[in-house]
Amino acid sequence: MRITALNNDLTDDVLRLMDLGAPYVKARTPSDYWLYAKLFASTCPVAVVDNMVVGALIAMRSQDDPSEIYIQDVMTHPEYRRRGVAAALISVVQTRAQQWECRRIYLTSEPENLAAYRTWRSLGFANVAGEYTVKGVQVIKDFKGPGKDRAVFDMTLP
Ligand SMILES: CC(C)(COP(=O)(O)OP(=O)(O)OC[C@H]1O[C@@H](n2cnc3c(N)ncnc32)[C@H](O)[C@@H]1OP(=O)(O)O)[C@@H](O)C(=O)NCCC(=O)NCCS
Repeated sequence: MRITALNNDLTDDVLRLMDLGAPYVKARTPSDYWLYAKLFASTCPVAVVDNMVVGALIAMRSQDDPSEIYIQDVMTHPEYRRRGVAAALISVVQTRAQQWECRRIYLTSEPENLAAYRTWRSLGFANVAGEYTVKGVQVIKDFKGPGKDRAVFDMTLP
C-alpha cells in the first residue's frame, strides 16, 4: 500500500471511492475535491494499492484555531477494510499535527456507526462526553446544527 497526498490526478477516483460510503459518507463535488487538493493536500492522504484508490481521508487545519485539525471524511474501500488502511491514513494526519505542534485532532460520526466507533477508539481517540448515549456511545446534541446530533471523537497531542 502506498500513501500519497491528494492531487488532481486522484480526485475523480477519490470521489468514486467516497460514493461507496453510504450511508455514513457521501461524496462531495468535484470542485470540493479540487479545493482539498489545492489547499489541504498535506492533511488529505490517499491510500493506493496497485494503482487503485482504496482509502482516503479529508482533513483540514483550522484557520481560527490552528492548534486543531478536523477530519471531515474517512473512507476505506469495502474490499480493503480491516487491513489497516484507516490506521495508516490517520497516522499521516497525526504526524502532520505533531510537525505543526497542533494540540487536537477531532472528528464526528453518526452515533450508530459502530465500525467507525470501534476504529476511532482503537486508534486512540476519546469519545467526547455528550448529552446522551446511543448503545454506549456519547452523543452531543445539535453538534452540526439543529437536529444534527453527532458522536465526537478527539485525540489530544502532547
Ligand atoms: C470506519 C472505516 C473507515 C475503518 O476503516 P478500515 O480501513 O477498515 O480500518 P482499519 O483496518 O485501519 O482498522 C483499525 C482498527 O479499527 C477497529 N475496527 C475497524 N473496523 C472495525 C469493525 N468493522 N468492527 C470492529 N472493529 C473495527 C479494529 O480494532 C481495527 O484493528 P484490527 O483490524 O487490527 O482489529 C471503514 O469501516 C469505512 O470506510 N466505513 C464506511 C465509511 C465510514 O463510516 N467512515 C467513517 C465516517 S465517520
